[in-house]
Amino acid sequence: MDIDVFTLFPGAFGWFEGQRHVANAIAQGHTLSYVNYRDHTPLSAGQVDDTPFGGGAGMVLRIDVIEAALHARYGTDPVELPSRRRVIALTPSGRLLDDRLVDELAAEPALTLLSGRYEGLDERVIDHFCSGAVSIGRYVLAGGELPAMVVCDAVLRKLPGALGQEASALEESFSDALGGAPEYPQYTRPAEHRGWRVPDVLLSGHHAAIREWRLEQSRAKLSGPEAQTADPDDPPGTSR
Ligand code: 6GU
Repeated sequence: MDIDVFTLFPGAFGWFEGQRHVANAIAQGHTLSYVNYRDHTPLSAGQVDDTPFGGGAGMVLRIDVIEAALHARYGTDPVELPSRRRVIALTPSGRLLDDRLVDELAAEPALTLLSGRYEGLDERVIDHFCSGAVSIGRYVLAGGELPAMVVCDAVLRKLPGALGQEASALEESFSDALGGAPEYPQYTRPAEHRGWRVPDVLLSGHHAAIREWRLEQSRAKLSGPEAQTADPDDPPGTSR
């Protein structure tokens, strides 16, 4: 998979690229590239943003700047892009990222992620140059760099061979293998710490019993008093 991240802060991704599963994916031939909007702005003095029409706080990334950056990268009118590759604007109001969307993105041969800064990007970018918009949660971050890393992290670890153990992405929280439920609890040595014992069944060596216990635990997390919201699209206040 080839991922291009458009950002004003390519330097922000240095730490991220050192993560093992990211480095593994890159070593296997997947690519992660960055385009700095500022390198392609047609405006003077490196300008990339402007005040919002209608007034209001903050600055908005300009469509002409984003268009120039996309054109420089792909050599085509960006209105043609969504038919050639998945182009995603990162914005707090976008489609909520969940395991299903991550699977969908992981199946793409190429992804383009557009980070915004300030108050975001001009809506016409989403309407005309993008396949869609994605949000990582219903809260507002100062920019799209962390969301871009979140999307890349979640997607890259789904690619074959990115994780050390091939099976480890299959049966994890929210996966189809667990019926979309959170993962069962995990324990490691010591088997007892301050009197807190690991469940006996896990030490029993009875694989069928362990499997049954885990599925039961996973299901229980969906409905227990500590249950997280099972469906991120639930209206606020319907979970917990
Ligand atoms: Cl994608 N961007 C920003 N700026 N804030 C967010 C977000 C994205 N998703 C949740 N909050």
